[in-house]
Amino acid sequence: MRKIFLTNGLAIPEIGFGTYKAAPEENISVISKAIEVGYRYFDTASYYGTEKFIAEAIKQSGHGREEFFIASKLWKADMGYENTKAAFKKTLENLQTDYVDVFMIHWPRPDLTRTDWKELDIETWHAMEEFYEQGKIRALGLSNFLPHHAENIIRNAKILPTVAQLEFHPGHTQTFALNYYREKKIQLQAWSPIARGRVANDELILELAHKYDATAAQICIRFCVQEGVMPLPKASSLERMRENLASLDFEIDEFDMMRLENMPPLGWSGEHPDRERIRN
Ligand SMILES: NC(=O)c1ccc[n+]([C@@H]2O[C@H](COP(=O)([O-])OP(=O)(O)OC[C@H]3O[C@@H](n4cnc5c(N)ncnc54)[C@H](OP(=O)(O)O)[C@@H]3O)[C@@H](O)[C@H]2O)c1
Repeated sequence: MRKIFLTNGLAIPEIGFGTYKAAPEENISVISKAIEVGYRYFDTASYYGTEKFIAEAIKQSGHGREEFFIASKLWKADMGYENTKAAFKKTLENLQTDYVDVFMIHWPRPDLTRTDWKELDIETWHAMEEFYEQGKIRALGLSNFLPHHAENIIRNAKILPTVAQLEFHPGHTQTFALNYYREKKIQLQAWSPIARGRVANDELILELAHKYDATAAQICIRFCVQEGVMPLPKASSLERMRENLASLDFEIDEFDMMRLENMPPLGWSGEHPDRERIRN
């Protein structure tokens, strides 16, 4: 699989596997299947409760830790200098490893009443920088940070973020943020790249699926890849995992990419870092 080079030199696979809700019934079978199919980058978070299942699945796979890329995230309740240190150690323990490849702040604001979120983010970042300097984190990242949140970190950081994660799929491309991260050379990753199926019946997606002999999910994932946004699809069956990886095997033409970029807003999760969640 092709690799993406982050600005600090770390090379990561061009597609990752999302692990939110990927350990149903508290077992490793979904993650083990993803390893079998060929995924080597796993996106997790302390909040998902899947860290320990990733560790176990890697152990049982027979492949070495160094073949994998594990990204985890610091939860809202764990922000602040000392809390971050404790939470990161717990993440390492859960993952049974002495380093993570990518570590991100999950959300820029723990809740909307926190008016001091800028200071809190900076304190949190400084704790993460220390782990980076000790070699325990290979790349620092931001999740759900819009440009005004990211800029606060960038202006106060010793070590710059190299990865950022946002909701991104046809119908919800957050173009201003996308361009901001492109300009900063911070690699954007797409969470919910197939919008959990919410765009699957859109007329343009269906037309392109037919034209490219692909599925709706593949059109969404391929769209991310061609935008230079690393997709992190989650799936439960071997068939879907393979189908999603096969998005790397075809190409959407320039004209159709423009149509996808300009389709009407669709499939937003309802989550925004500065607003109460809208239940769709
Ligand atoms: N940073 C954040 O705040 C944040 C937020 C949300 C998600 N994420 C990350 O992004 C990852 C992916 O996002 P997501 O899980 O929300 O959504 P997603 O990957 O867009 O969609 C996953 C859903 O689509 C289904 N699916 C997968 N492949 C399919 C296919 N080929 N055809 C039809 N349906 C298919 C899956 O069903 P089955 O499982 O039944 O196969 C699952 O219900 C997460 O797992 C997580 O790692 C991060």
